[in-house]
Amino acid sequence: MTHFLDIHTTDRAELRAILDQASAMKAARGDRPKGTPDDELPLAGRVVALIFEKPSTRTRISFDVGVRQLGGTSMVLSGADMQLGHGETIADTARVLSRYVDLIMIRTFGEDILQEMAEHATVPVINGLTDTSHPCQIMADVMTFEEHRGPIRGKRVAWMGDGNNVAQSFLHAAASFGFNFTFAGPEQLDPPDALVGAARKAGSEVRIERDPLAAVADADLVVTDTWVSMGDAESSRQRRHNLLRPYQVNERLMAAAPGDALVMHCLPAHRGEEITDAVLDGPRSVVFDEAENRLHAQKAIMRWCLGV
Ligand code: CP
Ligand code: NVA
Repeated sequence: MTHFLDIHTTDRAELRAILDQASAMKAARGDRPKGTPDDELPLAGRVVALIFEKPSTRTRISFDVGVRQLGGTSMVLSGADMQLGHGETIADTARVLSRYVDLIMIRTFGEDILQEMAEHATVPVINGLTDTSHPCQIMADVMTFEEHRGPIRGKRVAWMGDGNNVAQSFLHAAASFGFNFTFAGPEQLDPPDALVGAARKAGSEVRIERDPLAAVADADLVVTDTWVSMGDAESSRQRRHNLLRPYQVNERLMAAAPGDALVMHCLPAHRGEEITDAVLDGPRSVVFDEAENRLHAQKAIMRWCLGV
């Protein structure tokens, strides 16, 4: 079974092949209307279940549109509306869904839930975000960087803020795609040591910085994300804001970065918190290309999972 569960559990050559296909499909579509199918329809006759146990705009719509463009059918399901949200086990849900659909994408809480789904499904499972990973996002981010700046290998990504799910997938990607990574944030919100160690072992030069200006000095890409993620306790909001305020991506910070450094944010952004309007809407920001590339990258991920 070819699941897409995480960056580090997917072979590096396969990750590269997925991105190559994503770029080729994007180019082949050109600017035809979003609702028209691709020339090739590899998902014809296939049904995809998109399960959300957390809110979503980009993941939900980009997967749904991507399935349509590839000739398939999708259904968007809220975990709360399924028996899943009322005590049915993940394992039974996986077994049942596998009798109805050809592919499952799930956005959920713990990584254990994703693993259980993958273990019991007899169709491929795609990770649409957990509390500790967001691999589809990082595939789109690498694709976006390379569209603007060429190969990411050997470049440096500076992450500002919380060592959250997106930051952790970036660390996995640093190892897989051969880029260097600077984490700048408060010690309390560092990414796990094990991930930092694994990226270093794989040859990526990982730096942990407390000084935000020093962190961006040699960055090719500056990335940030919300200060309070969907899995975080609401009660931690004030504490997180207090800890993370020095790491806001603003014009002062970007003035300390090389002139050609790009800016990314997976969105949704909290304007005026982790990033200012001036940077998000400024010339270095590629956030909307990043959002678009979710569509192209995920179409290639679905094809890879199904071998079509
Ligand atoms: N970036 C991202 O995954 O956005 P959504 O939460 O809107 O899906
Ligand atoms: N870190 C954010 C990403 C949202 C796409 C969250 O998990 O809420």
